[in-house]
Amino acid sequence: MNFDGTVVGVELGERSYPIYIGAGILERLGEALQCRMQNAECRMQKEIQNPKSKIQNESHPSTLTTGRTVVVTDENVEKLYGERAEESLRAAGFESHRVSVAAGEASKRMEVVERVYERLFDLAVARSDTIVALGGGVVGDLAGFVAATFKRGVHYVQVPTTLLAMVDSSIGGKTGINHPQGKNMIGAFYQPGLVLADTATLATLPRRELGCGLAETVKHAVIRDAAFFAWLEANAAAILRPEAGVMTELVERNCRIKAAVVSADERESKLRGILNFGHTIGHTLETVLPERDYHHGEAVSLGMAAAGRIAVRRGMIGESDAERIARLLRAFGLPTAAREPLPADKLLTAMKQDKKVRAGRVQFVLPTRIGDCTFVEDLSEGEIRAAIESLYG
Ligand SMILES: NC(=O)c1ccc[n+]([C@@H]2O[C@H](COP(=O)([O-])OP(=O)(O)OC[C@H]3O[C@@H](n4cnc5c(N)ncnc54)[C@H](O)[C@@H]3O)[C@@H](O)[C@H]2O)c1
Ligand SMILES: [Zn+2]
Repeated sequence: MNFDGTVVGVELGERSYPIYIGAGILERLGEALQCRMQNAECRMQKEIQNPKSKIQNESHPSTLTTGRTVVVTDENVEKLYGERAEESLRAAGFESHRVSVAAGEASKRMEVVERVYERLFDLAVARSDTIVALGGGVVGDLAGFVAATFKRGVHYVQVPTTLLAMVDSSIGGKTGINHPQGKNMIGAFYQPGLVLADTATLATLPRRELGCGLAETVKHAVIRDAAFFAWLEANAAAILRPEAGVMTELVERNCRIKAAVVSADERESKLRGILNFGHTIGHTLETVLPERDYHHGEAVSLGMAAAGRIAVRRGMIGESDAERIARLLRAFGLPTAAREPLPADKLLTAMKQDKKVRAGRVQFVLPTRIGDCTFVEDLSEGEIRAAIESLYG
C-alpha cells in the first residue's frame, strides 16, 4: 500500500506526542499505539514522513505490548469505523473492547461519564490500559475526561473522525463535559499519547459538519498564517468535495498552527487565547439562542465576521481584508449574517458572564491583518453592540 501521510509533533516536554495524518491510516492505529507504548523509534513515523515508502503488513509478535484498549465512540461512528479500528488494534495484539454513547452534544454530561466509568470497572480496566476516543469532538472531550479522571488517569489516544476534531478538539489536551451552568465547565487538561487522523473518514461526514471544521480552519489562517489563508481561497472547491489529498494537507497545516500555539502556552495563560478569535460573540450566540440551532462553527463564523467589522471600525484592518475573510467563510457555506435580528442586550449580558471575561472586561481577539491578531480588552459596549447589530440587515 502506498502511504500518503505526514506527522506533526506537539512539543510539551515529556508529554509531547505525534499527530499522524493521512488517508486510510485508521488501519494502522494498532501499530501506531504499539510504537508509542514501546517508546521505540516508530517505523510508522519514518514511513509516514516518506510518502513513497511501501508499508508491509508484517507484524512483530515478539515485541507486542499486551495491553488492553477500550474504544469509546458514538453510535454513528461505531457503525462506520468501529470495526475497522478494533481490527487494527487486535491485529497489533491488543485485547479490545468497545463502549458506545449516543451521538450528539447531550452525551457530554456527568450521567454519561458515570456510565462509561461503570463499563471500565466491569472490564477491570487498569491504569496501563488505553482509552481510544474514536469520533468527533463530543467523543474526544468525553473520553478524554473519562481518561483523565478514571483511577486518576489512564492512557488515551485521540482518533478524530470529524474535521473539527482533526483540526481543533483532538489537539491540545482540553477535555471536559457540560454542566447546566455552562458548556465545557467541568474538565481537565490531559494530553493524549497520540492523535491519528484518517482523512478518508471525512468522506462520510455530513456537509454541515464539514463546515464546522472549516470555520476553525479559517480561524487558524486568519490569526496565524496568511499563506494558508490564500491556499484555502485557491482550494475551496477541492476542500468542499472533499478531496482526500487536499484534506490531508489542510489538516496538517491546521495542526501545525494549533500545535505551535499549544506548545507555547498549554494552559492558556495568554497566547492560547488567540484561538478564541470569533468565539467571544460566537459562543454567546450558541448559548443564548439555542432555538436558532447554530452549530458551533456557524456561530464562530458569525463571530469572526463581527470581529472583522470591529477591527475595521477601529482602523486595525482595511475593509477589503474583512471582506476577504467573510468571502472565504461564505465560500465554505458558512454564515456571515443572521437571518433574523439579534437581541444585543441579552447577548451583551451573557458575554460578561462568559469565562473569556478577565477582571470584568470582555476580551476580544481581533485581526491586525490576515495572518496576525492581537488581544483587545478596551472595547466599549457600544462597539460590541454595533458589531452584533451589523450581523443583521
Ligand atoms: N477540546 C477542545 O479543545 C475542543 C475544541 C473545539 C470544540 N470542542 C468540542 O467539540 C464538540 C463538537 O465536536 P464535533 O463538531 O466533532 O461534533 P460531534 O462529535 O457531535 O460530531 C458531529 C456529528 O458527526 C458524526 N460523525 C463523526 N464522525 C463522522 C464521520 N466520519 N462520518 C459521519 N458522521 C460522523 C457524529 O456522530 C455526530 O453526529 C463540542 O462539544 C465542542 O465543545 C472541543
Ligand atoms: Zn471552536
